[in-house]
Parts: sequence; structure tokens; C-alpha cells
Amino acid sequence: MSRTVRWGVLATGGIAATFTAALQGLPDAEVVAVASRTDASARAFADRFSIPRAYGSWAELVADEEVDVVYVATPHSAHYEATALALKAGKHVLCEKAFTLNAGQAAELVELARERGLFLMEAMWTYCNPLVRRMTELVREGAIGEIRTVQADFGFAGDFGADHRLRDPALGGGALLDLGVYPVAFAQLLLGEPDRIQADALLSPEGVDLNTGMLLSWASGANALLSCSIVGHHATAASVVGTAGRMDFPHGFFHPDHFLLTRAGAEPERIESGPGPQGLSGMQFEAAEVMRALRAGETESPLVPLEGSLAVMRTLDAVRDRVGVRYPADDLFPAQVR
Ligand SMILES: NC(=O)c1ccc[n+]([C@@H]2O[C@H](COP(=O)([O-])OP(=O)(O)OC[C@H]3O[C@@H](n4cnc5c(N)ncnc54)[C@H](OP(=O)(O)O)[C@@H]3O)[C@@H](O)[C@H]2O)c1
Repeated sequence: MSRTVRWGVLATGGIAATFTAALQGLPDAEVVAVASRTDASARAFADRFSIPRAYGSWAELVADEEVDVVYVATPHSAHYEATALALKAGKHVLCEKAFTLNAGQAAELVELARERGLFLMEAMWTYCNPLVRRMTELVREGAIGEIRTVQADFGFAGDFGADHRLRDPALGGGALLDLGVYPVAFAQLLLGEPDRIQADALLSPEGVDLNTGMLLSWASGANALLSCSIVGHHATAASVVGTAGRMDFPHGFFHPDHFLLTRAGAEPERIESGPGPQGLSGMQFEAAEVMRALRAGETESPLVPLEGSLAVMRTLDAVRDRVGVRYPADDLFPAQVR
């Protein structure tokens, strides 16, 4: 792998634009091609970001010999198909979160990448954020003792009409896969896969979850109280409570700019990130991790391990089971419900 990593962007929506802009802020990344389901959309995106090649099909992108790694930025419902297509064409893949619609699809992708010796990572950018990495380091050092409780929420009340992807079960709609994946991933980063999962949700007439509460529990006695919503304005805050202190992320815990560490009996300390590239979205950290791993010849990132993504998908499957949300894809790729 040369020093410059050549990216192909698959899909042209909101996050594809944000991530492309982040890549273009990195000196060792080059976006060489973009693909869409239509020529017109690929062309417009290529013009907007001065990308050399625009394709009206995913097949052309994955056949492009100058693409080292494909970034999959479709709705969740197409993650499996697009990622499998890229892996089968011999491309490394960074795939947006939620990784897939269910754990059955995720397990197949992991197996495919491992069989072919290709790099695969879920775009769980939170795990690559320097402050989140500092949090896990502090926990390992015992700064707050044994973790007893994690609290995290993610929600906003958007104008999501009946034709929005978030309301469509076929597209993996609902709060859980778009937003709830963050609180679940945050809790599991600290505590691993839970031993018990309880949940309840308000469902839409289409059958997707609008407002969801989760209680995950571990045999150690730790628990996580998590929520997600597309009908309520949440703080998007998180707290990690331990036997010897706590850490609080007052807002935006999934890409924090600071948090407060309170050791028992002491005043809160404000922990901030050091200077970084200015004006970028925070996605540069996950892009940099992908490129580091590719140059090192690794097929998996130690920051976002595939086993972790599979474990998160199993929890999301279990939550959907508890609240009664089914996607059509569950018939083809059975969800893994514990
Ligand atoms: N990491 C983050 O912070 C973050 C933030 C937002 C979203 N996301 C994730 O990124 C993914 C996309 O979200 P988004 O907000 O960018 O969505 P979006 O704006 O709706 O864009 C998705 C794009 O995928 C393509 N697409 C639409 N419907 C499709 C279908 N049925 N089958 C295949 N492709 C389809 C379209 O591109 P073409 O017309 O070019 O085919 C569309 O522009 C989701 O999985 C979401 O969870 C991540």
C-alpha cells in the first residue's frame, strides 16, 4: 500500500459528503471515485468534490483498479449488499454504522472478509475519537474504580415524514439502528456484551421504533441505562459511574470535545482533546485509523474490532425482539436473538 490511500465512495447522501470532506482534509488520502445508483447523482457529487471518476453503478466502482478501499455510505438496508460486492471484488471496506440490519448479515460479512484476507471495519467513529480512547485508558488505569452504571442517550425530534428512510422498515428505519447504536456501542466498549437485555419502545404505524429505552445488565452487577429517539430532544449525554468516581460527557458523547472526570472526594477535572486538524468533522480519526491499518497490512482495526461490531449487532437484534420491530431482511438472514 502506497503512502496515499485511494478511496472510492459508494453512495452520495449526507454522510458520504461529510466523510468525503474529512478525507479531503487529510494529506495522505485521495478520493479517486464515487458511485451512485444513478449517473446524474454520481456526476453531481464528483463535480462538487472534484473527484476524478463518477460511476452510475456500484459494480463499476468496485472494479476500479485504482480504488484501494471502498467507503459504504448507503442506508443500513444496503450495507450488506454493497459491502459484500466490494469484498468479492477484492476491495477493503469501511462500512457505515449500524454495520448491517441484523447480526446474521454482519456475521456473513465478517466471514467473507476473513476468507479473502481483506480489511473490514464498521464506521464506529466514536471508538477512534481521542477523548473516547482517553476515557477507556483512564478506566483501565482504575481512575473511577469498577464500573457500576453507564447512562447514555441519543435522540432528536426531526421532521421525518412517512416517506423518510427512518420511517421505513425495509430500509432499517427507526431510532435504534441510526442513533441507539451509539449508546449501545459506548456501553459495550466499556463493559463488553451484556448478559441480559430488556427494552421497551413506542412504535410508529409502520412498525419502526420511535422512542426506545434499554436496560442492559452484566453478571458483575453492572448495568447500562440507554435510550434513543427520533421524537424527543435528548441531551446526547453519557455518564460512566464507578466505585471510585465518575466521568460525564454533557453533550455529544459520540464525538466529544471534552468530558469531566470526578474522582471520589475531588473536584471535577475537565479533560479536553489536544490540538488536532482544524475544521474537520471528527471523522478524520476513523479515516486515519483505516489508513494506518491498511499500511500496516492489518485486516481488522484493534480500535473497532469486528467481534465488537458483531456483539453490538446481537444486542440490537435482542432489543428489536423485545420491542417487536422486524425488518423484511430478518426472513433471509435470521436475527441472532438471545
Ligand atoms: N457516522 C455518522 O455520524 C453518520 C451520520 C449519519 C448517517 N450515518 C449512517 O450513514 C448511512 C447513510 O446515512 P445518510 O444520512 O447519509 O443517508 P442519506 O442522506 O439518505 O443518503 C444515503 C444515500 O444512499 C443511497 N441510497 C438511498 N436509498 C438507497 C437504497 N434504498 N438502496 C441503496 N442506496 C440507497 C443514496 O445515494 P445514491 O442516490 O447516490 O445511490 C443516498 O443519497 C446510514 O447507515 C446512517 O446510519 C452515519
